[in-house]
Amino acid sequence: MTKPVPRNDIESQWMPFTANRQFKAAPRMIVSAQGMHYTSHDGRRILDGTAGLWCCNAGHAHPKIVAAVREQVGRLDYAPGFQMGHPLAFEAAARVAGMLPGDLDRVFFTNSGSESVDTALKIALAYHRVRGDAARTRLIGRERGYHGVGFGGISVGGISNNRKLFGALLPGVDHLPHTHDLDHNAFTRGQPKWGAHLADVLERIVQLHDPSTIAAVIVEPMAGSTGVLVPPLGYLERLRAICDRYGILLIFDEVITGFGRLGSSFAAEHFGVLPDMVTLAKGLTNATIPMGAVGVREGIYQAFMGGPAEAIELPHGYTYSGHPVAAAAALAAMDVYEQEELFGRAAELAPYFEDAAHALRERQHVIDVRNIGLVAGIELTPRPGEPTKRAYETFVKCYERGVLIRTTGDTIALSPPLIINKTEIDLLFGTLGEVLDTVH
Ligand SMILES: Cc1ncc(COP(=O)(O)O)c(C=O)c1O
Repeated sequence: MTKPVPRNDIESQWMPFTANRQFKAAPRMIVSAQGMHYTSHDGRRILDGTAGLWCCNAGHAHPKIVAAVREQVGRLDYAPGFQMGHPLAFEAAARVAGMLPGDLDRVFFTNSGSESVDTALKIALAYHRVRGDAARTRLIGRERGYHGVGFGGISVGGISNNRKLFGALLPGVDHLPHTHDLDHNAFTRGQPKWGAHLADVLERIVQLHDPSTIAAVIVEPMAGSTGVLVPPLGYLERLRAICDRYGILLIFDEVITGFGRLGSSFAAEHFGVLPDMVTLAKGLTNATIPMGAVGVREGIYQAFMGGPAEAIELPHGYTYSGHPVAAAAALAAMDVYEQEELFGRAAELAPYFEDAAHALRERQHVIDVRNIGLVAGIELTPRPGEPTKRAYETFVKCYERGVLIRTTGDTIALSPPLIINKTEIDLLFGTLGEVLDTVH
């Protein structure tokens, strides 16, 4: 029997990462989207300063992606992916592999960034085990790291609010220090000069546990969700060197940085450091249909291929791994990125975006501006005794003025679709600056 719930009830949904009671008392509803803009329920156009959640890199409702999804859902809505295949999943994997640097040539599909992270961590553990190196079970993450919300992701992640309610998490996990230090790095443009030495803490962690016990290190090459922490010059290179020295796998979580955010296809390419695995999601399909992926170096894949041909090499996968409609969306998104040269466009716009971000330096409350590619973090002094409130009020006021920004703690993170133009960049930072002057 159906319960009598009013159709306009907004109580039923337990909203993700949301202050439910506060939101439901004054909802902000989005009802449609096109290009750089959302339309709110009260009919206002809202400039998207965050590409949704760092994911709509080609802007909203791109006609080619919409058409591909429409066409595919009518042709093949679903097909099982276990011991069966369908052409688009293979095509999409080959396409992703072709974009990835080095010999990151094998692609495993998931449905989200969190699943990509869990998949990569499991592949790392299994890789050592199938090679007969089964003592390598420890995973190293980083303070302030965000790797989604699965148990693996929050265990290696380093945002305490996301961890503290959920028990003991995975055993055998340790964390590198984060690289945020305003005494050294405030108002840096691009990569900070200070901080590469923090990668050397990995050497100490490795020695503490013994190198033979460490399976993998996972970091976001640019930490996004914690509030935009750009890697210090030389930092990622040092992580790579230490991992190489001790046979440890290096995983880059590129869920945000993948597909053009920094003005290159991937952060691995941007920084010239090749990890052993990359986790992807978000921009993979331009967020039209949920999909994630793990890119794996050839040698890791081959390590699994030694047993009998009839054995399932990796007992892992999701009902929707390589879903046909998601694969169609991914192929169309990658076409659009290429045909419209959106990554190059992001690289070209980055200096203008950087200047616009750093112009906020003079506004009240601003204690740091940091940026890379089409990402900027603007850190505010927390209101005494009320952390996060100043940033939250800034977010609400910007929304009321027709600009969507995102906050994390007291940092504002901006990451617009790569199709943004200079006038829209001016509007984005101009509105934010004006609002900052009105927030106490
Ligand atoms: C670096 C990183 N990893 C993983 C995730 C989790 O992705 P999802 O929310 O699709 O599970 C995110 C989401 O913001 C992310 O930024």
